[in-house]
Amino acid sequence: MSRTKPVKVAIIGCGTISHIYMTNLKEKFRITELVGCSDLIGERAEKRAAEFGIRRMTNEEILKDPEIEMVMNLTFPQAHYQVSKEILGAGKHCCVEKMMAAKFEEARELAELAKQRGLLYGAAPDTFLGGGWQSARKYIDDGFIGKPIGVNAVVSCSYQPASDTFDLDPDHFFFPLHPGGGLPFDLGGYYLHNMINLFGSVSRVSGFGGNIDPERFYLNPSHPKYREPFHVDTPTTLSGTLEFASGVYGTILITSDASVYDCFSVQGTEASMALFHPNWFSGPLTLYRSAAIVDEEKNIGLNTDEGYRPIPDAVPLPLLHGYCGNSRGLALADMAYALRNKRRPRAHFDMGLHAMEIIHGMLESAKNGQIYRMTTICERPRPRRTGVETGSGQEATIDD
Ligand SMILES: NC(=O)c1ccc[n+]([C@@H]2O[C@H](COP(=O)([O-])OP(=O)(O)OC[C@H]3O[C@@H](n4cnc5c(N)ncnc54)[C@H](O)[C@@H]3O)[C@@H](O)[C@H]2O)c1
Repeated sequence: MSRTKPVKVAIIGCGTISHIYMTNLKEKFRITELVGCSDLIGERAEKRAAEFGIRRMTNEEILKDPEIEMVMNLTFPQAHYQVSKEILGAGKHCCVEKMMAAKFEEARELAELAKQRGLLYGAAPDTFLGGGWQSARKYIDDGFIGKPIGVNAVVSCSYQPASDTFDLDPDHFFFPLHPGGGLPFDLGGYYLHNMINLFGSVSRVSGFGGNIDPERFYLNPSHPKYREPFHVDTPTTLSGTLEFASGVYGTILITSDASVYDCFSVQGTEASMALFHPNWFSGPLTLYRSAAIVDEEKNIGLNTDEGYRPIPDAVPLPLLHGYCGNSRGLALADMAYALRNKRRPRAHFDMGLHAMEIIHGMLESAKNGQIYRMTTICERPRPRRTGVETGSGQEATIDD
């Protein structure tokens, strides 16, 4: 059997996250051949090109190069729409970091363009393809929690003007303050994609919140802009309820106005499961069962020939799949196999579009006080098979 021909890939956007993408596309995956990169800020592209031994290019050179089949859009969210439109317009397959665009209408337009041109168009975040989330999906699909009833999540991240992590570099465009980059889109995107992976399409949503304080001041004396005002142009706190078509109910609170915290759990008729931050590819999975307490009088517990045995109430579950470490670029690698094997990419744009519409619906509902009825549906992505937990062999699980 011959080896699959690698797909030549270029990256547009050489900022913070590009380093791990380039490392993985060069070293982790055999299906991708990283050939070039570009950035509006020439020195950034220059630096990455030298580090990874690839060509420093302009966007135009990438789009005109007949050998480059696929382009990864790693620009900040406000630029996603325009750059993805140019990539698809040039006839190249496109994969974009979350979210697909700053507005639902823009994402819908891009999805139409990809359909019309017959191009693959994938949307990260790809953490749902990681070992932890694939294992969670398998446990749920195999009935470990019984019939799924609910999913709930809280994510807060202290992007507050007094904190040390807040927009420290005056020369860096801090996208969480700008359209398409606020926490509901940024970290919220991970939670929504993972909920869709676990439970499928959402039919109705409602929401409260928005941009709770558009005019703010830098409040940390070590910040170069201490006491200067700034304008926040994106929602920062959003609370929503979701009704999945499968009958599961969800709640989510996403805020950058509060101190750091996160939780993600699912509830079923037989058990609940605590999961981990969907920004990561893996983490602890713990099953909580209601028959945990041994009580012979009430006949609760596991009755064996030797008498009652305790059933632990919190059971750590083993991870069953590979790609547990930082595997950014996995959606693109999967899309490269999708291209060669003529199948649907797992991080298909319909998932990204659906996640965009959920945020759009929560924001609409927050404005008009009505429940928002979703107009898009998406197929749950095909799970990866279990096994091959470490090393380069795990790539076989996306060569399907
Ligand atoms: N930073 C993270 O930890 C992280 C993690 C996961 C995903 N992401 C996602 O990755 C994407 C990029 O994030 P980042 O943190 O690297 O952002 P960044 O701001 O550090 O980098 C973005 C780069 O894109 C460039 N750019 C913008 N418009 C461009 C255009 N039209 N043509 C060429 N280059 C252009 C900018 O000059 C900048 O260098 C975002 O969608 C983000 O949500 C970021």
